Amino acid sequence: MDKFFIKGGNQLKGSVEAQGSKNAVLPMMAASLLLSEGELVLNNVPNLADVQTMQDILYELGVYSSFTGNTLSLKVIDDSKNIARYDLVRKMRASFLVLGPLLGRRKKAVVSLPGGCIIGLRPVDLHVKGLLELGASIETKEGNIIAECRQLTGKTIYLGGRFGPTVTGTENVLMAAVLAEGITIIEYAACEPEVQDFCILLNKMGAHIEGIGSNRLVIHGVKELKGTTHNVIPDRIEVATFLMASAITNGMITVTNAAPQYLTCVLETLKNCNIQTVVTNDSITAFKKSERTLPAEIVTQPYPGFPTDLQAQIMTLLCYADGISVIIDNIFPDRFMHVAELLRMAADLKRSGNTVFIKGPIKLQSANVMASDLRASAALILATLSAEGESQISRIYHIDRGYERIEEKFQKLGANIERVKIPVESMAI
Ligand code: EPU
Repeated sequence: MDKFFIKGGNQLKGSVEAQGSKNAVLPMMAASLLLSEGELVLNNVPNLADVQTMQDILYELGVYSSFTGNTLSLKVIDDSKNIARYDLVRKMRASFLVLGPLLGRRKKAVVSLPGGCIIGLRPVDLHVKGLLELGASIETKEGNIIAECRQLTGKTIYLGGRFGPTVTGTENVLMAAVLAEGITIIEYAACEPEVQDFCILLNKMGAHIEGIGSNRLVIHGVKELKGTTHNVIPDRIEVATFLMASAITNGMITVTNAAPQYLTCVLETLKNCNIQTVVTNDSITAFKKSERTLPAEIVTQPYPGFPTDLQAQIMTLLCYADGISVIIDNIFPDRFMHVAELLRMAADLKRSGNTVFIKGPIKLQSANVMASDLRASAALILATLSAEGESQISRIYHIDRGYERIEEKFQKLGANIERVKIPVESMAI
């Protein structure tokens, strides 16, 4: 198990290139199950633990993949397999994305239910609802979803839930619908940039999807899909994490390959906090306009609103803001594991349900802290980089799920951060 050892207090300066988007690449990999012929070649793929997990799941489903540099090639070798085991699915909820394409192409899928998650309940009822409406028969047996169909048929499906649209639910239903007979309309579809890029890829594979970028996707069923090559969009969450690192360390970081068009709400939020951003076609530079960071009221929302995947990181930044800030997470109301760790670093936070009040400005203090999930880990890196003195972050396997070589990127920007291997026997339980 690895840990980060961090000596905080350095101003971070320089330029860093964004990785490809994790949440775009995972459904794209699952879409390889839809191939009738050819190879799916994805460029700009980040080398992440979650990508490896998806490769392992697909391997058991007869898809062979090879990773060279940041290019991932996927090809179907055996299309008779249809079981995604619990041992693999429990590692990553996005594994559930194999359900739609298995059903659409192989007509049967046995996919383990993903189970609990540290950031909340995360049900899959909307995925199941969408597939049922397309004509699948679905039962739950011994922790698995067993889905079967003779031929899926297009239909108008309202896919909104209590918390709005669902990202992977939309992607799962899309993958089933592209090979269904007739026209499927998904009303209240998720329109995140990752879903948009995914639809563009499916169309390049031969699908016929209209309404990309809107909440109403119209899918004309086609007979088969074939291989293609695609450049995955930049990871907007990684980009914004670096912009916040720049502000929190009083530095000046430029992120290249940053796709600023996907970050309008985040850039507006930073501006309101008195953080200057300079935007070009494909880069963003962030720095503090003056000593005083201003407080903010943040409500997480589906795209184009403020993303829940940046809620933890902005909370760290707002600890330094002069006044009272409020963060409400409407997407994952229990995604607050980072609060307890930030409190150990002297943050002044009060949580009530899905709301956290942040009183600042506070100078965060160094401490040994524990990562609990991917984005909470990113928040703790920002916190420890800004706090003078030595800190350690344990359980950093969480960060390796979504950020490629994050410590190397921060080192190049001037951070004092080292990855240290800790022998398992010396770890406290
Ligand atoms: N929901 C339901 N029923 C469902 C599905 C979702 O009620 O069947 C609810 C969820 O509980 C939540 C809301 O709908 O309250 C939205 O969840 P969504 O389904 O959109 O989340 P997801 O598809 O499971 C993806 C990302 C997450 C990101 C969310 C929200 C991937 C692989 N994961 O998850 O990314 O937080 O959308 O934008 O795309 C991360 O990268 O750290 C991460 C957790």
